Amino acid sequence: MPAMSDVPRPLEPSRTVRERWLSVLGDLALEQEERLASGPAVGSLGAAAAQIAEEVGSGIPEEPLPGGVEEAADRIRRAAEAALVPSGAGYFAFVPGTGLFASALADLVAGAMNRFTGVTTAAPAFNRLEADVIEFLSHEFGYGPDARGVLLSGGSLANLGAVVTARWKAFGDSGDFSRATVYTSAQAHHSVDKAVRLAGIPLRNLRQVAVDAAYRLDLAALRDAVAADRTAGLAPFLVVASAGTTNTGALDPLPEIAGLCEVEDLWLHVDAAYGGGFVLGPGGRERLRGIERADSITFDPHKGLFVPFGTGCLLVRDGRHLRAAHDADAHYLQDFTALDRTREAPSPTLHGPELSRSYRGLRVWLPLMLHGARAFREALDEKLDLAARFERGLDALCQARAPIEIVARAQLSTVAFRLERRDGEALDNWNARNAAWLDRINARRRVFLSSTSLPVVDGEAFTLRVCVLGARTHAEHVDRCLEDLEAGLAE
Ligand SMILES: Cc1ncc(COP(=O)(O)O)c(C=O)c1O
Repeated sequence: MPAMSDVPRPLEPSRTVRERWLSVLGDLALEQEERLASGPAVGSLGAAAAQIAEEVGSGIPEEPLPGGVEEAADRIRRAAEAALVPSGAGYFAFVPGTGLFASALADLVAGAMNRFTGVTTAAPAFNRLEADVIEFLSHEFGYGPDARGVLLSGGSLANLGAVVTARWKAFGDSGDFSRATVYTSAQAHHSVDKAVRLAGIPLRNLRQVAVDAAYRLDLAALRDAVAADRTAGLAPFLVVASAGTTNTGALDPLPEIAGLCEVEDLWLHVDAAYGGGFVLGPGGRERLRGIERADSITFDPHKGLFVPFGTGCLLVRDGRHLRAAHDADAHYLQDFTALDRTREAPSPTLHGPELSRSYRGLRVWLPLMLHGARAFREALDEKLDLAARFERGLDALCQARAPIEIVARAQLSTVAFRLERRDGEALDNWNARNAAWLDRINARRRVFLSSTSLPVVDGEAFTLRVCVLGARTHAEHVDRCLEDLEAGLAE
């Protein structure tokens, strides 16, 4: 029989091997990170990307890769070529996501230690760091000491948590949600529809209330819809307002909606997944006034706090409701309970759907500690200024007779615009011209923009949008974007 020390333990590599892996993968991470400020704004997409996917994917081997960590790193490097670059300086598409380097290091450390943070008593100090982050955010949004929150994978899950919490408060465990009625705007993120459906509320009871000319929820239409539903015997219980819609960055009139919800006894949830981060800066805080009156708030640190994807946050003003909607216990958890008989510690599992979870707290906490909150406040105010700079540049192009129409001005850091429609032009033709313009802009690969469709009298109009939210994006990138828009017009 071999001595115990001779038994191979391939899943426990030696320190020398681990150092080698760290060095190769660390170099890869640094090299990739350095490309974000000045590399191409987009990688290969479509057929070229599918080809790369074919090349890097070879199934899972029974034995270690012959080329070891270097070969694995090469494949990762190659895979990175076939992707959008939401963390890049020239990325203005969808909602940019920066991925701070400090967060990547936090993930490395958290993963290497792999402590269990689902239940607070299992790692109280780590949970305290996460609670510090949640308290910081709660305070920034204007919530008091009764607020509780949870870090989830993103805005979609946070919106689901909010709908479930509001539903629990209104209907408890009755299981009868047939009359439960929800209101949001026609411009809300589709994760709201999804949350309503996943929460077991009939989609026929979701009202997508009309918006005004600036794509903000129309308060009078909301009031009328609630009244009509009450008359029809339905049970209105929830309004989901947006603090920064994905399409145009529209800010619903929060103080007015909060007033209506207070009078009508409706839960107000604000989806601030995109826009919430701006509350950190003086410029954004004023624009988001009223958000402190919401019963719950979705905010995505993987957008507005620049941390890597997979980090959303749900905050609830009266944390007892969040807890009541998610509380659960089991015999095999009794050892945790024995450490805290009061069950007072704000365990993530008591505030969200997960038990085991990645330790998300560290990837928000570490950058806040290393950079300090002020760096975030300044960066977020800078993004508002950059959107205003972009808008001024578009105005200048219009004054110089470029055939551009600004469809939605920057309420936060998003601007929507398109080529003007020619007299009598068919919708398809107009849309095709705008799509071709977008292709020409993106083909230069200095900036990357995305599009959406917005209603016009005869259908949906293809509309370009610029969303400024990358921490690496600065004035020179906005100016480059304007140059490429103009060049795309000329071509
Ligand atoms: C306004 C808004 N709500 C919700 C979401 C969904 O967030 P996530 O992609 O983190 O699930 C997004 C995503 O962009 C968003 O912009």
